[in-house]
Amino acid sequence: MRILAIDTSCDETAVAVVEGRKVLSNVIFSQILIHKKWGGVVPNLAKKAHEDRIDMIVQESLRRYLINRKITDNLRYGFPNNIEEDAMKEIGGIAVTQGPGLAVALEVGIKKAKEMAKKYRKKLIAVNHLEGHIYSPFVQNRQGKPKISFNFPYLALIVSGGHTELVVLNKHLEYQRIGATLDDAAGEALDKAAKLLGLGYPGGPLIERLAKEADNKDYHNLPRPMLKSDNLNFSFSGLKTAFYYLLKKGNQNLSGKITRELASSFQCSVFEVLVMKTEKAIKKTGINNLLVGGGVIANLRLRKLFRDLASKYSGKVAFPPYKYLTGDNAAMIGVVASFKAEKELYFNDLNVLDREPRLELC
Ligand code: KG4
Ligand code: ZN
Repeated sequence: MRILAIDTSCDETAVAVVEGRKVLSNVIFSQILIHKKWGGVVPNLAKKAHEDRIDMIVQESLRRYLINRKITDNLRYGFPNNIEEDAMKEIGGIAVTQGPGLAVALEVGIKKAKEMAKKYRKKLIAVNHLEGHIYSPFVQNRQGKPKISFNFPYLALIVSGGHTELVVLNKHLEYQRIGATLDDAAGEALDKAAKLLGLGYPGGPLIERLAKEADNKDYHNLPRPMLKSDNLNFSFSGLKTAFYYLLKKGNQNLSGKITRELASSFQCSVFEVLVMKTEKAIKKTGINNLLVGGGVIANLRLRKLFRDLASKYSGKVAFPPYKYLTGDNAAMIGVVASFKAEKELYFNDLNVLDREPRLELC
């Protein structure tokens, strides 16, 4: 079944068409330029930007779906007059992110999904945004690549701007959360550190670049929060405070070298905690088959650390295979929805579906 998927959970207006794990079309409108000057996502601006663009992004995604299909199937007919209606004839269901995320942003996607489900009489599938990040390593391109197949159980780590969670996936769509952050998420911590350093937003990629220039070494030995605790939870807000005082104490004039070394040290601390807590989870669960999803795993240094970790335990690690799949996108939402559709997990009463800003996995 082909699925039209919508995600407006934060600051990306994203729409995709998928069939099983294959992405047939994918459009993402990032609002980074809108929020950049405020140093973070501003809810009302996000809502307005989603509202202004959602119709256009849906249209564009359906248009690309028709064009791609024409190329793939070598069809010769002319271009349709009504893109939306023609494309919707070939689509069986509509998937939408129900939560977690920004309430005012989520509601824009949900409203659009409901409208379309009613108009075209399609099944509606509600997806948890975090399920999307967990499944992101399995998303394939139009040609069905990469071919990686499922081999349960998995230990999944989500590292995004809003979440840091360790989850066991015993089989499709069955999650058991075994660890989570008690305060800031890993990406949020990187963003805040970048702000303290006077860098731009989002901070993760900027810190990655500076850290690499400083050889990814640790120069300041900042705290490794919660590393010694026996549980699998994370906490990054104390690290941010320690970083703040380090900057204040040194009254650092942030020359290039000093900034690079500070960025590198902060990144080392965050990543060491992520890797060592995951190692603890491997030992506790006996699962050495890892999945890592979310914006922070765009970071090549972190990928290397997780590859090393997996090989230390003779296991494997899978990451989102294409860069766009690390950040927010609707393709991963559509792929989860495909597995839900196989089990007929539809949302039957459209009027009941509502945003769930704090939706949990289990
Ligand atoms: O998954 P995502 O796009 O949005 C959420 O669902 O939160 O994650 C965004 C986060 C931001 O905190 C951003 O700084 C971080 O991912 N990020 C990175 C990199 N690229 C994005 N962190 C470290 N290194 C990167 N290359
Ligand atoms: Zn996300």
